[in-house]
Amino acid sequence: MTRKYIVIIFALLCMPRVLSAQSTTNTLVVHADATKDTISKYIYGQFAEHLGHCIYGGLWVGENSSIPNTRGIRNDIVAALKKIKVPAIRWPGGCFADEYHWKDGIGPRADRPKMVNSNWGGVTEDNSFGTHEFMDLCEQLGCEPVICGNIGSGTVKEMSEWVQYLTSDGDNPMTALRKKNGREKPWKVKFWCVGNETWGCGGIMSADHYANELGRYSFFLKNYGDNALYKIASGGLPEDDSWTETIMKKWKSTDGWLQGYISGYSLHFYTVNDWNKKGSATAFTENEWFTTLSKTLEMEKLVAKHSAVMDKYDAQRRIGLIVDEWGNWFDVEPGTNPGFLYQQNTLRDAMVAAVNLNIFHKHCDRVKMANIAQMVNVLQAMILTRGKDVVLTPTYYVFKMYSVHQDAALLPVDLQGESYTHGLDSIPALSASASRDKEGRTHISLANLHPSKRENLRCELKGTTGARVAGEIITAGMMNAYNDFGNPEAVNIQPFTGAQLNNGILTVSLPAKSIVTLEVK
Ligand code: AHR
Repeated sequence: MTRKYIVIIFALLCMPRVLSAQSTTNTLVVHADATKDTISKYIYGQFAEHLGHCIYGGLWVGENSSIPNTRGIRNDIVAALKKIKVPAIRWPGGCFADEYHWKDGIGPRADRPKMVNSNWGGVTEDNSFGTHEFMDLCEQLGCEPVICGNIGSGTVKEMSEWVQYLTSDGDNPMTALRKKNGREKPWKVKFWCVGNETWGCGGIMSADHYANELGRYSFFLKNYGDNALYKIASGGLPEDDSWTETIMKKWKSTDGWLQGYISGYSLHFYTVNDWNKKGSATAFTENEWFTTLSKTLEMEKLVAKHSAVMDKYDAQRRIGLIVDEWGNWFDVEPGTNPGFLYQQNTLRDAMVAAVNLNIFHKHCDRVKMANIAQMVNVLQAMILTRGKDVVLTPTYYVFKMYSVHQDAALLPVDLQGESYTHGLDSIPALSASASRDKEGRTHISLANLHPSKRENLRCELKGTTGARVAGEIITAGMMNAYNDFGNPEAVNIQPFTGAQLNNGILTVSLPAKSIVTLEVK
């Protein structure tokens, strides 16, 4: 057979694939006429723990640093975080919360006792970033604090005094102490976690034991003045809905005596394929791209699973599911402290962020807050720092592009689409969500999970018409593209011109491995 015939036969064999790729159409119906729920801005919450360089070096450099700061907090980080409209920060942990004694972190810094951060590298914590510094950070950002109290090694008295110190304006010992430390007026603190991972680093409790502790602690966390606490109960392991059942049953069992004492229930779920072999954040193949995305899609099953149990006891959905730790967890970068959880962040992280935010939007009638782990220099971070230098990660840009959905009305979507098949397994190729903001603009966010295939989408807007469509895109040539010191803008937000609007029908051509947000008005 001549070379010419071999080429023709090969071309014929390839033809059906080429044709089917060209004729592929995914369909999306956006029900703009069926708005019911609001996408809480708190779904865009952050988590900042005393872990590695999240606080020290990342957020806090101290007043005497040569890095420009306001009362010790980095100006560049605050400026960058303001641009993504951070609505809430959970602090001081995590596991750290259950060995943190808040009174060690107030008063003159030179007098604050030191401690060992036994969870994270065994380093010395000098308590220079404490309650006043954290509340200052929240005030500089204009965001809500989410404080995680210590049940594991603390006491009811200690936690209840912390609430009094922060929020009371009365004639009592903690208010006097706060005033002595320079803060006259009380702060407002709404969100309060009553323990963290109490099945593990938060005290190794059983569900029954924790359910009792939850009641005891919650009872003594008082509302001062008009400050109303929103108390968040610790959840069990991600899959453990019997823990959820125990807490919810207890909450309901004795004539609702706990009603008003818990307002939220926590779910933690990290995207990890194998805890013993988490893999590199940057050096990965399509296999790891696929398994990471498959794993992260489990978030939807978990949200549905815990919501179903909660529905049995709280059909009106008054209790929020609070996903206060989520994100990718990979191996630390070579040469860094294994206890510091410092990892790079690629287009794969951006895709994971987009998929999870789309899931939280869809379930916003139950998911009232989420806090990605963690804000700076730890796990799936928004920002990486090295000395005075700063890198904004691909995840940061997803949070920025998606910020249009904060407090917008959810528009339910029906997505019928192609699969992304790798080996013997398949996942949906597309992920989508939509909302309408207070100015009446419709935003549609779309992610094409396929790393090498463009997807075409026909989108029907039901109940709305728009005259114009504009868009933004996050993508890159390589699935492991990332921003680094010296190359900080490899992955960022670019204008998107691949969408057309005709008579209420949008046609969109989504490049492989891309995340797009469209605005229709
Ligand atoms: O985010 C890192 C750790 O993961 C947190 O401290 C803990 O709550 C979780 O196990």
